[in-house]
Amino acid sequence: MNIRPRRLRASKAIRDMVAETSLSPTDFIAPLFATEGKNIKEEIDSMPGYYRFSLDLLRKEVKELWKMGCRSALLFVKVSEMLKDNTGKEALNPDGLMQRAIREIKEAVPGICLMTDVALDPYSSYGHDGLVEDEEILNDETVEVLAEMAVSHAQAGADFIAPSDMMDGRIEAMRIALETTGFINTGIMAYSAKYASCFYGPFRDALDSAPGFGDKKTYQMNPANHREGIKEALLDIQEGADIVMVKPAMAYLDVIKSVKEVSSVPVSAYHVSGEYAMIKAAAQKDWLNEEQAMVESLTAIKRAGADLIATYFVKDIIKYLI
Ligand code: PBG
Repeated sequence: MNIRPRRLRASKAIRDMVAETSLSPTDFIAPLFATEGKNIKEEIDSMPGYYRFSLDLLRKEVKELWKMGCRSALLFVKVSEMLKDNTGKEALNPDGLMQRAIREIKEAVPGICLMTDVALDPYSSYGHDGLVEDEEILNDETVEVLAEMAVSHAQAGADFIAPSDMMDGRIEAMRIALETTGFINTGIMAYSAKYASCFYGPFRDALDSAPGFGDKKTYQMNPANHREGIKEALLDIQEGADIVMVKPAMAYLDVIKSVKEVSSVPVSAYHVSGEYAMIKAAAQKDWLNEEQAMVESLTAIKRAGADLIATYFVKDIIKYLI
């Protein structure tokens, strides 16, 4: 035999030398959940080891992430039930939880790349990402509110806004809104190929944002579709997205790969709450080795083509790498 592939696997030194994919702390985006109150660090039931923080403790958390080598965070807020309605007006409140959290984080760690979630679900009395009329999720009316929301986040100090709503035409509307208000350097990371997935379940527990009626299938994508994911990513790039995202990650590696092949901008992937919860639950039962499952999953997502990965394992993976 002249060709023995096993020669390249003979020792750890050789395996590392010829590895085609490697992970680095700067690959990762840390999702953050903010809540009202003081001195609050609440564990999310369905996301063991992951927490909602009040702003005082969130500052500490972000400082810790920064010190570890994490360079980017993606901010979500849990809005009190009283403030939810079908207009999204709390989303535009300059002193709303999101806007205050942005200011606190950027004050605590000015260098961090802070990305903020733009969608109406945490603010919606219906738990939907847009305005609702007769059980329909309105597109164009929602886009108008989202564009204002983007500007409001930029005013508070967000470096990137991250629209996760899946309305048509929102990237162009947000880009125009940001340009015309002077936020020419505020970036957009578009959730471009976002699928209607059951793997968001634990996240909806974290933010108390599950849809009150129906599901999200008229705006989020059908898991059966691959080419449509490419279409969505290309549209968002054309509309002005600086980064495009595929979400979830593990069940959509083919979409990540194809988007990477055609994309002229960086591609991110969201290793979502359900993907985290599955590994945690199996590890708690001693059915999987948690660290190995984490490393293998994140390596696979990067191998598929993700330049950036949002993951709830952010601290664990950085600790593992350094
Ligand atoms: C809502 C939003 C969701 C996630 C990010 N932004 C949930 C949804 O669309 O229902 C999911 C993140 C996760 O599961 O980790 N706009």
